[in-house]
Amino acid sequence: MKISVMGTGYVGLVSGACLAERGHRVTCIDIRSDVVEEINAGHSPIYEIALDELLRLAREKETLTATTDARSAIRDSEVTLICVGTPTIDGRMDLSQIMAAAKEIGAALTGKSGYHIVAVKSTVLPGTTEGPVQAAIESQSGRKVGDGWGLCMNPEFLREGRAVEDFRVPDRIIVGATDPMTANRFLEIYADFSCPKLVTTLRTAEMIKYVSNSLLATMISFSNEIANICSALPGVDARLVWKGVHLDRRLTPIDRQAGMAAGVTEYLWHGLGFGGSCFPKDVAALRSFGRTVGEHTRILDAVLQINADQPLRMVSLLEKELSVAGKNVTVLGLAFKPGTDDLRESPAIPLVEELQKKGAHVIVHDPIAMPQARKHLKFLNVTFSQNWSDALTNSDACCLVTAWPEYRAIQPADFGRLMKCPLVIDGRGMFEPAAMAAAGVTWRGVGYTPESCVEQKPVENVCTDLTCSQHNKNSHAR
Ligand SMILES: NC(=O)c1ccc[n+]([C@@H]2O[C@H](COP(=O)([O-])OP(=O)(O)OC[C@H]3O[C@@H](n4cnc5c(N)ncnc54)[C@H](O)[C@@H]3O)[C@@H](O)[C@H]2O)c1
Repeated sequence: MKISVMGTGYVGLVSGACLAERGHRVTCIDIRSDVVEEINAGHSPIYEIALDELLRLAREKETLTATTDARSAIRDSEVTLICVGTPTIDGRMDLSQIMAAAKEIGAALTGKSGYHIVAVKSTVLPGTTEGPVQAAIESQSGRKVGDGWGLCMNPEFLREGRAVEDFRVPDRIIVGATDPMTANRFLEIYADFSCPKLVTTLRTAEMIKYVSNSLLATMISFSNEIANICSALPGVDARLVWKGVHLDRRLTPIDRQAGMAAGVTEYLWHGLGFGGSCFPKDVAALRSFGRTVGEHTRILDAVLQINADQPLRMVSLLEKELSVAGKNVTVLGLAFKPGTDDLRESPAIPLVEELQKKGAHVIVHDPIAMPQARKHLKFLNVTFSQNWSDALTNSDACCLVTAWPEYRAIQPADFGRLMKCPLVIDGRGMFEPAAMAAAGVTWRGVGYTPESCVEQKPVENVCTDLTCSQHNKNSHAR
């Protein structure tokens, strides 16, 4: 099919590239000419594993092109996917990008022949697609929905850092549609994808996306609240608490050979809270939406509050060991999670802000997100290091923020060798307390007391059962 995709961010570009891989002819549209040029040159303007290669191949085969000329691209396609941003500003969803896209589509549909399907892939609150989006297209085109065009809501569930993999092998495809014929025609773009496909109303599809994200965010805040309680309990190691919980047969199917853990256990693990472009804004938008329909959102309120407090726990832990004023504090990891260069709502931002407010000199490193960080206003007064070892040299303390594999590979002795004062605050539970202690490193983390650091054996020695490697992998997730 001929598909136009509005917006070439994480969702639009990945969707476009993966649909081109499946044989569709895709035109990506963006208002930013620089990203359009980059895509046409076969390069991805964002970092996602395998995306550069997909784009290069699609450009070679001429199955994907990019343009700023929305009107021609829409008129020359059968389906338009709306993948523009829907930020939450002051707790409310900002629809300006969606409305601009809808008006552009409406104008393009004027006099267009052939049935055209418009599908909203952006995350929007229930009622948005059949409300303002439909109204804008109808008023610009002069055609009611059903008069030569149909409307769908097709939420996207890809995870940044694994976006290409998630799009190629989705766990579900949800299609809300104005009518069954439009749903069936739209599902043709996913004909080659074998996964459960659920057809709903437009509003239900919109709600499914918010509920999915809010559930996962709730699990993360729950995990952090539990870890904070563990922090007050000598001899308790929050990681072992989660391992014990994960072994519940409802979370970890009893198949010892496969050694499988349910993906949901990734979110039952403590850390520095959730970040990125989705969970924080979607939970905030659902919370304010709940209020507009007259419902109290006590759980969602708590989820957001716990999440706002969590990165600052690192500073409290640090200050128990050291007065940070005038000290060199290294922050390893700036992206909100490994596998992405996305800094949106990263816990590194409030952490760096707080450290600087307390007078620390902050040195930062991230294997992928440094180019983005150099442009970010919150990182104006930090020192950027080319690699983690430079970042640690002569440092008084280190805060581990993002669980990049290359940080996991740092040897405990490296901290002792490079740092002026080997003090590590491990926000992701990446290192073994006993190994750090043996290397003379003071190691602290959310979810443990100094006593638990000494008393616990290394985790691998304790958990000899099915899910060890799986669980260790899970803690990389956010
Ligand atoms: N990032 C994710 O992991 C993810 C996952 C699932 C769903 N979502 C949702 O998908 C939507 C897009 O997210 P994203 O992270 O890809 O956003 P993004 O901000 O990375 O990209 C949006 C793109 O749209 C472009 N744009 C804005 N107005 C436009 C217009 N009128 N015409 C053409 N292009 C326009 C922008 O220039 C930008 O390149 C959001 O609603 C988000 O909540 C995101």
